[in-house]
Amino acid sequence: MGNVKIAPSILSADFTCLGAQVEGALQAGAEYVHVDVMDGHFVPNITIGAPIVAALRKLVSEYDAVMDVHLMIESPERYLHDFAEAGAGILTVHVETCPHLRSTVQAIRALGVRAGATLNPGTALAALEPVLPEIDLALVMSVNPGFGGQSFIPGSIGRIRQLRTMLDDIGSGAELQVDGGVKAGNAGVVAAAGADVLVAGSAVFGGEGSIERNISAIREAAEATDLYQNNPAGQVRR
Ligand code: DX5
Ligand code: ZN
Repeated sequence: MGNVKIAPSILSADFTCLGAQVEGALQAGAEYVHVDVMDGHFVPNITIGAPIVAALRKLVSEYDAVMDVHLMIESPERYLHDFAEAGAGILTVHVETCPHLRSTVQAIRALGVRAGATLNPGTALAALEPVLPEIDLALVMSVNPGFGGQSFIPGSIGRIRQLRTMLDDIGSGAELQVDGGVKAGNAGVVAAAGADVLVAGSAVFGGEGSIERNISAIREAAEATDLYQNNPAGQVRR
């Protein structure tokens, strides 16, 4: 394992000082900045859009980090261009919103952006299979999308393992990202199951320590995967 990337989700940041909060995360070594875009249709909540991505672009690029945009919106193809222009480095769409998933993935790549695909916890992983050879990132949602601060769904560990196998079986270099309820207490088991990128919102921006300490705690836990090697049940130990 090792070299797990951390993607702080700004959904849980203090928006009155967003720049300073994101800079704190970047100083702590966050490789990605995760931006949760919600439309009040596909998910119940409404959040932020391309102007926020554009506002953070310079800061994020100064740290050689990547803006990782998670589109929880209907008809995402209508907005791909806007987010690419705003500086997204990764655009992830939900299979549930894309009747023409392969074309959408191809449209993202044609914009010079890395393409991600994801699915709700209740959607079978088979829905991702047709695009696995064409995506750069596969995201396992470990909560029902819509809100930060929810609890990790334990059954996600099995899905992470299964998707890891699916990617490895086709020799894919796509990253496996996990999003929802990730914190220091479960990062080890999530990484051991095969995650490459951990999204964390409330555990980074609403955690007990500083942003820097919270990120370090998650990273250290993710790197201590040997604790979980003989834990086939994937139970969270801390
Ligand atoms: C949920 C979002 C997540 C969320 C993560 O719909 O996609 O990215 O912000 O927040 P935490 O880490 O608090 O579960
Ligand atoms: Zn997200």
